[in-house]
Amino acid sequence: MQVIRRSLLLVLLVILCCCSSSAFWKPKHVKSASTVVFPVHGNVYPKGYYHVTLYIGQPPKPYFLDIDTGSDLTWLQCDAPCARCTPAPHSLYKPKKNVISCQDPLCTTLHSPVSNPCEGPQDQCDYEVAYADQGSSIGVLVKDVFPLKFTNGTGLSPRLAFGCGYNQEVPDSSHPYTDGVLGLGSGESSILGQLADLGLTRNIVGHCLSARGGGFLFVGDDLVPSGVAWAPLLDRSPKKPHSSGSADIFFGGKLTEIKDIPVVFDSGSTYSYFSTPAYNALLSLIKNDLKGKQLNDANNDRSLPVCWKGIKAFQSVREAMSFFKPIELSFPNAKNAKFQLQPEAYLIASKHGNVCLGILNGSEVGLEHINVIGDIFMLDKMVIYDYEKEQIGWFPANCDKLPKS
Ligand SMILES: *[C@@H]1O[C@H](CO)[C@@H](O)[C@H](O)[C@H]1NC(C)=O
Ligand SMILES: *[C@@H]1O[C@H](CO)[C@@H](O)[C@H](O)[C@H]1NC(C)=O
Repeated sequence: MQVIRRSLLLVLLVILCCCSSSAFWKPKHVKSASTVVFPVHGNVYPKGYYHVTLYIGQPPKPYFLDIDTGSDLTWLQCDAPCARCTPAPHSLYKPKKNVISCQDPLCTTLHSPVSNPCEGPQDQCDYEVAYADQGSSIGVLVKDVFPLKFTNGTGLSPRLAFGCGYNQEVPDSSHPYTDGVLGLGSGESSILGQLADLGLTRNIVGHCLSARGGGFLFVGDDLVPSGVAWAPLLDRSPKKPHSSGSADIFFGGKLTEIKDIPVVFDSGSTYSYFSTPAYNALLSLIKNDLKGKQLNDANNDRSLPVCWKGIKAFQSVREAMSFFKPIELSFPNAKNAKFQLQPEAYLIASKHGNVCLGILNGSEVGLEHINVIGDIFMLDKMVIYDYEKEQIGWFPANCDKLPKS
């Protein structure tokens, strides 16, 4: 069985918490910060990942970067020279005397006082990131130019820090490799934090992933619609996941026994993961509801752990929709904001013509106490991480059309 998971860095995940109520977004009057929009490529199935193309360096070269709101550091596979790199769509990034030293403030934000590899201020700033899916990257921080086109029409080339990764570990089941990872977490080392520090964009990132593949990503607040449902974001250091923010699950419009489960949003995870009690309960609700309907277990389909076959092969999830009920996550601590999931947002149509459940058993991959909202749940929604107001919002959206930029 192939379980596809991407760069989920658990320690940096954002967790919904049970604190203040949230209101509609009212932009503060600030500097003339603008927004950058990136087209997104990829899909949940069969690719299992999404990437954006970033141009870096002088002259600028394109790189495909996996988008990951679960981690901070952006890195590229790098010819420093490379000790261990994976096959990638583009040639390796070549640093040119642009290594950051340990005295750079950005280097300090990257290292915890207990595990600081810096010995002297002139040393190069080494980094190491490890992801929950066993992947990792080791390298050195460099600075280079990122030519960006802003929605207000201005083009700028800020110099931003990122990792030059010369030693990568990639889990076996991993997707075709990209050139690196675009870390979109709230930490200061992220590209997002750096752009905000320069006053170029607000510290806000959003993505709109289409169920038909592709979509867009934006950095800044220009595209944030009014009427977004907001829930508070918990600080990045996961407190006791049990006591943190939580959702109640509705199935077919009815409240289920699955209540008060802590959830995190992570674009670096293709599928969603529920911890065992919630997973078991939800799976039995779905199975009971299928009784008497013309769907049978498709145990020989290894696309995902749970698949069903119909009388005829399914070409798309739409054809199987009538068999399944909508699921809803309700957030009591955010004025009962609802996160609605039509069957397309939790099922895939496999290449064998079956429909498979895109919610996986978290305990089987070591996620015991946390429930992960992966890409599949976020399809056809704008999902916005506002790190300034520490809130996360969502809004139904057409992600097929790139906003004008
Ligand atoms: C457009 O946005 C950029 C980035 O925020 C900013 O530096 C620039 O001044 C803005 N240009 C105008 C004309 O407002
Ligand atoms: C989920 O995984 C746990 C731990 O491996 C297991 O005990 C449980 O039976 C699994 N649930 C289902 C429905 O397979």
